[in-house]
Amino acid sequence: MYDWLNALPKAELHLHLEGSLEPELLFRLAQRNGVALPWPDIDALRGAYNYHNLQEFLDLYYMGADVLRTERDFYDLTWAYLQKCREQNVVHTEPFFDPQTHTDRGVPFEVVVNGISQALEDGRKQLGVTSGLILSFLRHLPEEQAMRTLEAALPYRDAFIAVGLDSSEQGFPPRLFQRVFDRARAEGLPAVAHAGEEGPPEYIWEALDLLKVLRIDHGVRAAEDPELIARLIDEQIPLTVCPLSNTRLRVFDHMRDHNILSLLDAGVKVTVNSDDPAYFGGYVNENFHALYEHLGMSQAQAQALADNSLDARIAK
Ligand code: HPA
Ligand code: ZN
Repeated sequence: MYDWLNALPKAELHLHLEGSLEPELLFRLAQRNGVALPWPDIDALRGAYNYHNLQEFLDLYYMGADVLRTERDFYDLTWAYLQKCREQNVVHTEPFFDPQTHTDRGVPFEVVVNGISQALEDGRKQLGVTSGLILSFLRHLPEEQAMRTLEAALPYRDAFIAVGLDSSEQGFPPRLFQRVFDRARAEGLPAVAHAGEEGPPEYIWEALDLLKVLRIDHGVRAAEDPELIARLIDEQIPLTVCPLSNTRLRVFDHMRDHNILSLLDAGVKVTVNSDDPAYFGGYVNENFHALYEHLGMSQAQAQALADNSLDARIAK
């Protein structure tokens, strides 16, 4: 079963490039850039990967991203992730990046986007992994800053396939970002948004009705609202679910409690993704393995999940 799962062709639709920064590369970049780290060594950093909720993880994730300074750093980060895609038969990926995490530290927008885009292009040519980049806004910051980020991105319009919304969810509903998503749509950029990870089903309704998203990132709390589930099934709106992330951040206490297969069997278009693999203990295949081990996922269910991921691509 493991070999079969590993060989299954699949797409990854929920991956934060900053969250694919493995501790070894993090330390290497810190040394290369002369950045002082709060952890004495890799083991100490790994020891800090013990979160109780989304915010505790995000605090560490933003600290880790501070080692990313040059175009080469963003290239190396993206290239390491694409090699994982190749190893795991992820034939297509639509990764997120958070420009504000970098521009707010003084790293120019073009440094970030050029490094990532060059690696994605080399990934297509040298590894055969197709891709489309998603520019994600940080929802814990004001909408005006998201709008300024969108404006800074427009000269690089061809480098992106969509915009997204991530970071701290509770207290930062999608409705706060309606204008920036309207503007992105006017520029021809489709949208996705994180909703219903820690936030309530209402945030999923808002993402659909106000931000007009094509997919919901996470969305597992939709299960609390039967009317919403009926809509997701009716309109076949994809959910990019991240099982290992959800258990590490205590959205579910145990993998055996995860609702991804119940949603699949009910007819929701769910997909399997790794979110922040360096921080949550696995890439896409390890997420599939966990569903097999703890939820008894069948081959037919795994095939349906992989087919959904290929079908839910924005970049076709
Ligand atoms: N949720 C919200 N923001 C994020 C996540 C996540 O899972 N990963 C990186 N930024
Ligand atoms: Zn995410």
